[in-house]
Amino acid sequence: MIPSTFLYLAVAALLPLTCRAEGSAGTGPLDQSFFTDYTHRIATISTDPETVRIGYVDAAPASNGTSRGTILIIHGWPSSSYGFHKVIPLFMQAGYRVIAPDYRGAGNSNRPLSLDGYRKSVMAADLHTLVQNHLNISEPINVVGHDIGAMVSVAYAGNFPTDTASLVWSESEVSVPGSAWYEQTKNSPTLWHFNFHRVPDLVETLTKGRVREYIKIFYDSFLVNPAGINPAERDYIASQYEEPGGMRAAAHLYRTFDDDAREN
Ligand SMILES: *[C@@H]1O[C@H](CO)[C@@H](O)[C@H](O)[C@H]1NC(C)=O
Ligand SMILES: *[C@@H]1O[C@H](CO)[C@@H](O)[C@H](O)[C@H]1NC(C)=O
Repeated sequence: MIPSTFLYLAVAALLPLTCRAEGSAGTGPLDQSFFTDYTHRIATISTDPETVRIGYVDAAPASNGTSRGTILIIHGWPSSSYGFHKVIPLFMQAGYRVIAPDYRGAGNSNRPLSLDGYRKSVMAADLHTLVQNHLNISEPINVVGHDIGAMVSVAYAGNFPTDTASLVWSESEVSVPGSAWYEQTKNSPTLWHFNFHRVPDLVETLTKGRVREYIKIFYDSFLVNPAGINPAERDYIASQYEEPGGMRAAAHLYRTFDDDAREN
């Protein structure tokens, strides 16, 4: 995660029509259409050696146009599928079925304890099983990833090339572990949390009882457009990370970067 791009930049890259609010003070409630307009489910997925529960949103394409296939859109940290609430309708109107999962450890998915499961190849395998074996979508899909989700999307395309029609990832300045740019930037002071999150037990211990405050620091310091995520939305997403194991799962995303680098 770096300051020049955050959360909604995936939209900017993909769809120039994105509405971005102006000004600095976001207001308003949660976007209820996210909860009411799409199917929300939890799939039980076996990704050897674990069984995980993966929450996901399944949004059907608009019925008035040409159906253009499926987009799997993978959020970053600290976010969840809710982070795409403004993007999903645009993809639907463009004729895509949208599958927006919460990756393991986030949102409505469960928070497995084992560090190894947070390798991005394993997280990608969760989502591949969701798409291919649970939703039975057999044609190649378009994979879009943002931030940590970008790392998962790269693993998806790399490990399942024949099931991937296209790959788009944003926040690409950070790129993926193992890339030259990642090696150059991973110790940058701006990315202080990369190393901080990797210290065993540290962030879990220090944020105990203060997860919301901690998560909000990321919104305050990394958002390009502070109005893009209003206070109610910040509270909602932060509350998802307050759940037991939420911060451990979050930190595990970073603790596996060396494994990811080897695998990429
Ligand atoms: C389909 O309807 C949506 C509104 O529901 C609209 O935005 C979109 O442009 C329409 N697409 C076509 C191809 O008419
Ligand atoms: C996908 O296929 C499996 C095995 O045939 C079946 O049990 C499952 O209900 C199917 N899922 C959907 C969403 O159609």
